[in-house]
Amino acid sequence: MEKDTLMEKIVSLCKRRGFIFQGSEIYGGLAGIYDYGPLGVELRHNIKQYFWQKFISGREDIYPISAAILMPERVWQASGHTELFTDPLVECKICHERVRADQSEAIEDHEKKHPKEKVEWSEPRVFNLLVGTKLGATEATATPVYLRGEITQGAQVNFKNILDSMHPKLPFGIGQIGKAFRNEITPRDFLFREREFEQMEIQYYVKPDEKESAKIFDEWKNMALAWYYGLGFKKESLRLREHEADERAHYAKAAWDIEYDMPDIGWKEAWGIHHRGDYDLKRHAEFSGVDMGYFDEETKERCVPFDIECSGGVDRAVLFTLMEAYTEDTMGDEVRAYLKLKPHIAPVLCAVSPLLKNKPELVEKAREMFAMLKKEFGRVAWDDNGNIGKRYRRQDEIGTPWCIVIDFDTLGENPEHKDTVTIRDRDTGKQERIHKDKLIEYIKGKISL
Ligand code: GAP
Repeated sequence: MEKDTLMEKIVSLCKRRGFIFQGSEIYGGLAGIYDYGPLGVELRHNIKQYFWQKFISGREDIYPISAAILMPERVWQASGHTELFTDPLVECKICHERVRADQSEAIEDHEKKHPKEKVEWSEPRVFNLLVGTKLGATEATATPVYLRGEITQGAQVNFKNILDSMHPKLPFGIGQIGKAFRNEITPRDFLFREREFEQMEIQYYVKPDEKESAKIFDEWKNMALAWYYGLGFKKESLRLREHEADERAHYAKAAWDIEYDMPDIGWKEAWGIHHRGDYDLKRHAEFSGVDMGYFDEETKERCVPFDIECSGGVDRAVLFTLMEAYTEDTMGDEVRAYLKLKPHIAPVLCAVSPLLKNKPELVEKAREMFAMLKKEFGRVAWDDNGNIGKRYRRQDEIGTPWCIVIDFDTLGENPEHKDTVTIRDRDTGKQERIHKDKLIEYIKGKISL
């Protein structure tokens, strides 16, 4: 029997343990659309929080916004997306299904559907990825609008608002996290290529100086890479790769990707760093008639800044983190699978258990510990199901770094250990006894490592 690929194991774990489900699953699902369950939404939240701390709240020069998803057609005409945000498609002449002409794996996958025939393909045709809808009371008066294909345009159209309300000095950035939508023809590999997904981005505006902007562009490449390492990736799992000229998006003067070496699949884009020059601001000035210039109070000069963009996929970060963290080993005589997630992103930081759930004095003490930790950290679970070994395995599988058990020693059966609890480490399986008053400090120390 063939062994499951890592991707199959992750998809199954995500469904079984409440991380991620197929969107509208009871109706057969919708391709490229996913719903996050209780554990997945916590993991994603922690990853976004880490982005927010590193690139927005932790800095003085980056201004957060939350722009709307729906934007008028004019925005996308100005940004070039109605014309140029396209993929080349070919159509299978046997079943008329369309796939991306530039993705050999999509073509090969499709050809497997017709093992007995030689598949012939149509000439490539361009296909626009924007997802459109209409707003308005009647068909005749409704206006076409688009669900944003990149969150970037929310920053570009608010550039002047940020200048006028916050009075920033160059260089400065606009940062945001939010949903983007693309009519991907071949959504694939779970969260890797979806039709609805989240992006986290910084648009960093700098003086329109080639040398200085190239230096800042390099700094952002390294900052984005360092951020990914902070999620717990091994050095060799990530790389920076420059786009070939024919790969670059229409707005990019230069483009680099941070790529992850997806097990069984290969190097795939995690994050794009683009030098957008003055393309967006100039196009919006032209299409809206609004001045998008920046006035330097000191030099009394006007300019249209260059934009260095750092654009990451939230769902790809979730998927890659799960793939990187998934570990199988043998503990005692048992083979176990667990998620080696760093404490700052694990959906559950620690689980609290009474050794036996039918001993009220243990339960009462454990509830006290649980309330104390929950108040401090939030991400704390109560787990009293099954025996202790089973609880440990269950918590390991979802990546909980620590399990805390309240036993008879805690209650003073062994006076030396009164008011101590056991704390077990997910990765080593080792247990320590710690005084209950030291627990918060102990965990805080480990999170910040
Ligand atoms: N504003 C620039 C921009 O959108 P992009 O390279 O098209 O650039 C940026 O997208 C990031 O968004 C990618 O690196 C990827 O992580 C994520 N992304 C793009 N398309 C996606 C999709 N269909 N599904 C999931 N994530 C996607």
